[in-house]
Amino acid sequence: MNNEQSQLFPIKTEINELDHLTIAGCDTNELVKEFGTPLYIYDKFTLTQMCKIFTNEFKSRYPNTEIVYASKAFSNLSIFKIIEQEGLGLDVVSGGELALAESINFPNNKIYFHGNNKTKRELKQALIYKVGKIVVDNFYELNLLNNLAKDLNIIQDITLRLSPGIDPHTHTHTTTGTLDSKFGFSLETGDAAKAFKYAKEMSNLQLTGIHFHLGSPIFELDPYALAIDKVLEFISNLGIDSQNLLEFSPGGGFAIGYIEKELPPPISGYADVITKALKEGCKKYGFDQPKLVIEPGRSIIGRSGIALYKTGAVKEIPNVRKYVSVDGGMGDNIRPALYDSKYHAVVANRMSETPKDLITIAGKFCESGDILIKDINMPIINADDTIAIPASGAYNSAMSSNYNMNPRPPILLVDEGKAKLIRRGETYEDLIQYDIL
Ligand code: LLP
Repeated sequence: MNNEQSQLFPIKTEINELDHLTIAGCDTNELVKEFGTPLYIYDKFTLTQMCKIFTNEFKSRYPNTEIVYASKAFSNLSIFKIIEQEGLGLDVVSGGELALAESINFPNNKIYFHGNNKTKRELKQALIYKVGKIVVDNFYELNLLNNLAKDLNIIQDITLRLSPGIDPHTHTHTTTGTLDSKFGFSLETGDAAKAFKYAKEMSNLQLTGIHFHLGSPIFELDPYALAIDKVLEFISNLGIDSQNLLEFSPGGGFAIGYIEKELPPPISGYADVITKALKEGCKKYGFDQPKLVIEPGRSIIGRSGIALYKTGAVKEIPNVRKYVSVDGGMGDNIRPALYDSKYHAVVANRMSETPKDLITIAGKFCESGDILIKDINMPIINADDTIAIPASGAYNSAMSSNYNMNPRPPILLVDEGKAKLIRRGETYEDLIQYDIL
């Protein structure tokens, strides 16, 4: 594995004497024998390292920073526990994610509740758990939340989600901060200005700052700097004082490497640009430096996860394409079908064989679009080989489905040569139990 490739895999990835892929000292082929395929493996060391890297890179430049894990990337009890132990906060976007956090008594004051259409029930749940901040997305929510808080006799801290009108140049499905977006109060339309006015008039809401999220994954640094300056200029023109700007969040969206040809800037690069833009902007527009809230999801959890599959059918269409099918696919990773996302793959049981066969790795789901990787050079694949796809830790399991009544795969956490089941695989009984005859 060359240096670029190794950046796609968990940090403690090695090849052992059997020519097998190992993660944190665990032979992936042994794990496959024990747990079957498809199988997802998360490396604890990579996860904790990413938490530490984010914390250090931001806090060394801007001490008053809080790193908040965007749990939509992968929500799991054991992962939430690690996130808590690493001192990170939690961004939740649903009552379900909040319930998971509540079940391990995740510190309420470190929870940020996001979403463009939080339901009455969800908002009540958040108020009762006394989450630190609710990030208000729209006028409907502003009124609803104020009334619910009034009923419960609570004064709730909120921040406003703004839509700054900056394009981060990523997939349209994952672009959020432009004018034509369902998220946030637009600067351009006048909504953001109105939102500040109304928020300050709400009896049971305390406006503590602002938030925006440009999209994800963002490989460029400039959009963050542009958006930070634009938003600070905007709120200074509105006459907002530092009292209502105790917190400032430019969201998440930091990219990870999926393929060796597209590696992201290091976290230090994002930290440099963001902290510099915030410091300079505050000086330029006369604000005290607020707390900086950073919300990485993918970049915290993505690299620690790999997906393992077994190969089965091979179909060769002369002069067209060779399809190699695996026993998972869009049910556990819909990203290629949804966003045309690119991935890398290796044969986990024959790691040092030279890639010389151009193939397309297809899934097993009844859908032509169920292709995991189009056109990748691999060693000649035999039936029952184990394929490993790195950078599978974010938004794979999180967006998984039971399409075609396929059970979701088990998930392991590996650390120092040991593997622990952190989510059991689903059974057919699990899938059938919700139906009523
Ligand atoms: N903060 C907010 C308000 C967000 O909406 C998101 C992601 C994040 C933080 C975290 O973004 P991250 O650091 O993970 O890039 N399913 C898509 C990604 C959707 C992201 C939604 N919001 C994918 O698989 O690429």
